[in-house]
Amino acid sequence: MSTVIKGGTIVTADLTYKADVKIEGGKIVEIGPNLSGTETLDATGCYVMPGGIDPHVHLEMPFMGTYSSDDFESGTRAGLAGGTTMVVDFCLPGPEQSLLEALQMWDNKTSRANADYSFHMAITGWNERVFNEMETVVRDKGINTFKHFMAYKGALMVNDDEMFASFQRCAELGALPLVHAENGDVVASMTAKLLAEGNNGPEAHAYSRPPEVEGEATNRAIMLADMAGVPLYVVHTSCEQAHEAIRRARQKGMRVYGEPLIQHLTLDESEYFDKDWDHAARRVMSPPFRSKQHQDSLWAGLQSGSLSVVATDHCAFTTDQKRFGVGNFAKIPNGTGGLEDRLPMLWTHGVNTGRLTMNEFVAVTSTNIAKILNVYPKKGAILVGADADIVVWDPKRSKTISAKSQQSSIDYNVFEGKEVTGLPRYTLTRGEVAIEESTVKTKEGHGQFVKREPFQAVNKALSTWKELVAPRKVERSGIPATGV
Ligand code: URP
Ligand code: ZN
Ligand code: ZN
Ligand code: ZN
Repeated sequence: MSTVIKGGTIVTADLTYKADVKIEGGKIVEIGPNLSGTETLDATGCYVMPGGIDPHVHLEMPFMGTYSSDDFESGTRAGLAGGTTMVVDFCLPGPEQSLLEALQMWDNKTSRANADYSFHMAITGWNERVFNEMETVVRDKGINTFKHFMAYKGALMVNDDEMFASFQRCAELGALPLVHAENGDVVASMTAKLLAEGNNGPEAHAYSRPPEVEGEATNRAIMLADMAGVPLYVVHTSCEQAHEAIRRARQKGMRVYGEPLIQHLTLDESEYFDKDWDHAARRVMSPPFRSKQHQDSLWAGLQSGSLSVVATDHCAFTTDQKRFGVGNFAKIPNGTGGLEDRLPMLWTHGVNTGRLTMNEFVAVTSTNIAKILNVYPKKGAILVGADADIVVWDPKRSKTISAKSQQSSIDYNVFEGKEVTGLPRYTLTRGEVAIEESTVKTKEGHGQFVKREPFQAVNKALSTWKELVAPRKVERSGIPATGV
């Protein structure tokens, strides 16, 4: 059995050219003109691109007294419908819970996944067991990224001493630390003040975490990573203050990666001023949506390369779940959806407007992510030997985004009513057609865990340099006698 994608134009992060792609056993086996196989997929008029990788999703996430509503089945189905063929979720150990025990719980959620997935491990506290288990997580469990929440005080948040200890451990293990960068102490204090003043609606969620809160934490995390001698990945970079910190660090030579979300690129803070409580609450997420000025900064970062990838932070709660926070915005579960809409929205607002080239689009939705997470070229590539995670992209297909026709299990969509042009004709996951235009052919349980090896090059370079410039005792002769 072989499949040939015929008549399309291959678009990768660095090349655009006409060729057919032949697939066997879930992998790309040949790229070239006039290929034939048992099955043919017509790609005339389409771009053949590496499937999207979403580096930041929360499926069935236990959070704020409930669970996010999309699980690994509906979440990966939504992703495939929008051209995303791999997702990376976050394993979140409870207070004092073993990392390995938490990982077992996360493994148990994935049996119905329709597409491949991987995990980041969260560090939610610090002790000797966490220190020891981090090594097992990296060496035996195929996870090379550790997430640190600088916000959500009293729940997931870690303090600077814990974070610095973990960053140093990441440096030793060849792992990459991730941060949710918001100053959790300031957010907690501002939240209490706003509530005491009677400011309890969803708009106050945004008032409680202004851009400075994110900029400060981003700077702090960057400084700690620099001192620990480790690269850093900043999730959901939403504002100029955070972007500026990342830009500055990169100019200084640091490997710091920024991840704007499709929501922050295309939706703004005016959503929170909507008179309809449900409309505003459905858009409550951290960091909140920002002004147009911040959006421009994020687009500029993608264009210039100071920001590296585009994610969704897909964490979908139903309207009923959002209503836990009526009368107290601090109880509105934080999170929005986007898995199905990331690629079409970025293509429409990025490529169709001339803000991004097609190759930049592939880089920020797939290839850069695969490289940063160390799964390239198994994922994120159209190359012989790579997994056949492919999207055959029809730049002329249009639709109006609507909750009525979406794959996600929630009852609304934050992009409701938006017109998109550029949609999958086919999405293939390891060679199997999961989406054919509007027809969903996903197979529950087809998705596999993708192991990610520890980083060799960057961590080694950083530790070599760190050793070279380490503080050294000055050897002196003729030291004077101790004074009296
Ligand atoms: O509001 C958000 N972003 N919810 C998901 C958890 C997180 O902070 O990423
Ligand atoms: Zn976060
Ligand atoms: Zn998140
Ligand atoms: Zn299968």
